Amino acid sequence: MEKLIVQGKNSLKGEVKISGAKNAALPIMAACLLIEGRCCLKNIPQLTDIKVMIKVLEELGAKVQTEENELMIDASRLMQEKAPAELVSKLRASVLVLGPLLARRRKAKVALPGGCNIGLRPVDLHLRGLSQMGASIRIKDGYIEATANPSLVGGNIYLDFPSVGATENLLLAACFAKGTTIIKNASRTPEVVDLCSFLQKTGVNIKGAGTDTLIVKGKSYLFPANHVIISDRIEAGTFMMAAGITGGEILLKGANFEHLEAPILELKNMGMQIEKMDGKILVKGCFPLKPVQIKTLPHPGFPTDLQPQLTSLACLAKGESRIVETIFESRFSHIPELKKMGAKIEQEKTTIKIKGVPFLKGSQVTAFDIRGGAALVLAGLAATGQTHILNPQHIDRGYQRFEEKLAGLGANIKRVRFD
Ligand code: EPZ
Repeated sequence: MEKLIVQGKNSLKGEVKISGAKNAALPIMAACLLIEGRCCLKNIPQLTDIKVMIKVLEELGAKVQTEENELMIDASRLMQEKAPAELVSKLRASVLVLGPLLARRRKAKVALPGGCNIGLRPVDLHLRGLSQMGASIRIKDGYIEATANPSLVGGNIYLDFPSVGATENLLLAACFAKGTTIIKNASRTPEVVDLCSFLQKTGVNIKGAGTDTLIVKGKSYLFPANHVIISDRIEAGTFMMAAGITGGEILLKGANFEHLEAPILELKNMGMQIEKMDGKILVKGCFPLKPVQIKTLPHPGFPTDLQPQLTSLACLAKGESRIVETIFESRFSHIPELKKMGAKIEQEKTTIKIKGVPFLKGSQVTAFDIRGGAALVLAGLAATGQTHILNPQHIDRGYQRFEEKLAGLGANIKRVRFD
């Protein structure tokens, strides 16, 4: 067993390199299943989620070589079309192999990704869209069994919700569909845009990247391509809040200012200074922080993946903050843990009301998901005394060398093993 031990009250200072975006790398790795040839992906973050996706691709027959932050994926010869439950249960994003397998192999058998600590997370929008493209789909013994005879056909699809995963799965399915596919109310995240730019390099004809309407003309063959994954806006936002909660000053290298407009606006409203500085982002936290009133929304709104971290930051603001989580119905596992540290938080359905307190006290707390775990680390950085964070493996799914990067900024944080 492992835990993180954080000795609070150090204000963070220095420069940190932001890694590649997990949520761009995963769909682009799945997209390589469409290509008979070797694709080279750079700026890949070293995370457990990436390692699981590599296992899924190898299970299907792709050859994957890793070097530092590079992946070489060759899916010339796929051996089968089944993504097994033991892998899908570790990584929900494995469901993104459904679209490319249907497109290329005309059949797929993917374990149903269950819910998790942040919500039920159904895949009905994925399946409905694929059916509208001519796939026949049934659920049997916990598996999605899909076929496309003779092949997928271009569909006119309207997503009831701009689901990131559904947009990505349908984009991948559309690449070999006969005719044109239009996806309306599509997700506009930078990660979807990065997937579109990779696909365009392989020869896919896509219009509307970054808008809510994507138009894809099906092709019969795609070429291997190389691609550099965009930087991780959620990691960047997390480090911005680390500066805010410790009253520190951090220079973010490799972060993309434009991908973070909503969080930067809100953090500035709380009193932080955030500015572009020759390709980097300088972030200064200053006390006292003002309270915040936000709703999480689909991009370009405030991202749900920064809600837990913002909740931690708001615990120390001067006044009452209000955060409404509109994306995931159960993204609140960090709240009881923050209350153990003395936070004054009330949750009513999906509204979080936070009364700022003068200080948080170090306690033993438990991480239940990636971003909730990161939120507890942030709280520990500001708390008096020591905070012990159990289950840090959740954090390792989404943050490359998190405690090393924080220690490099002056945080007193270490990972210890215990039985
Ligand atoms: C992606 O998850 C991200 N994961 C999540 O990041 C992120 O929080 C989420 O998008 C934001 O929307 C990856 O990209 C790998 P959704 P995804 O489909 O695609 C409902 C992290 O911490 N929905 O946009 O699963 C769903 O229940 C992770 O890095 C349906 O109802 O998210 C949720 O309430 C967490 N039916 C909402 O839509 C569907 O078919 C948003 O889900 C699909 C989704």
